[in-house]
Amino acid sequence: MLKNELRALMRQRKRQFTQQQLSELSLPIVARIKSLLRNSRTIVAYYSLNDEVDTHHLIDEMVQEGKIVYLPKVVSDTEMVLCRYTGRDSLSPGSFGIMEPQGPVMPHNTSFDVVLVPGMAFDADGHRLGRGKGYYDRFLSTMMAPRSLLVGVCFDFQKVELVPTDSCDISVDIVV
Ligand SMILES: Nc1ncnc2c1ncn2[C@@H]1O[C@H](COP(=O)(O)OP(=O)(O)OP(=O)(O)O)[C@@H](O)[C@H]1O
Ligand SMILES: [Mg+2]
Repeated sequence: MLKNELRALMRQRKRQFTQQQLSELSLPIVARIKSLLRNSRTIVAYYSLNDEVDTHHLIDEMVQEGKIVYLPKVVSDTEMVLCRYTGRDSLSPGSFGIMEPQGPVMPHNTSFDVVLVPGMAFDADGHRLGRGKGYYDRFLSTMMAPRSLLVGVCFDFQKVELVPTDSCDISVDIVV
């Protein structure tokens, strides 16, 4: 199956659920993320769109627990950078309607314990299908050693047998 066909299939699967159902399906996944991140201090998260695993409460909780949370900010057609998340007040809508923090940009050599990587689909080997612009592939390929633990995040119905990949695609270490 081609990447675009798999994206279309995943969009079709998402459409079978209401917003309320997707929120409920998010709960056990967020619980798995929380237990996985119990001992992590610095985390790159994502501020979920309506059709993604809901991270909104999760990231507020992490900040309350004293963890350092960064969120992506799209700065061009190809590049995203990271800004520290300190609370919802600091968010405003950026490209693609995604809420982004407005604070200072993190230097490229900052290191993180964990990166939560959203995906349209993942397979058991951690191969990832994104939304098709390559933002995460480019961002993850520039990360410095020691490399963060890359955690793929998706609904269970987005876990598939095989995700088609090419040489630019960065795989995740685990999928929750
Ligand atoms: N490291 C890279 N350097 C240059 N181009 C890249 C890199 N990674 C990906 N690309 C290009 O970006 C485009 C989109 O890639 P791909 O289809 O894998 O997106 P995706 O992984 O689904 O999206 P995203 O990462 O934004 O969620 C492709 O043309 C790909 O070649
Ligand atoms: Mg890719």
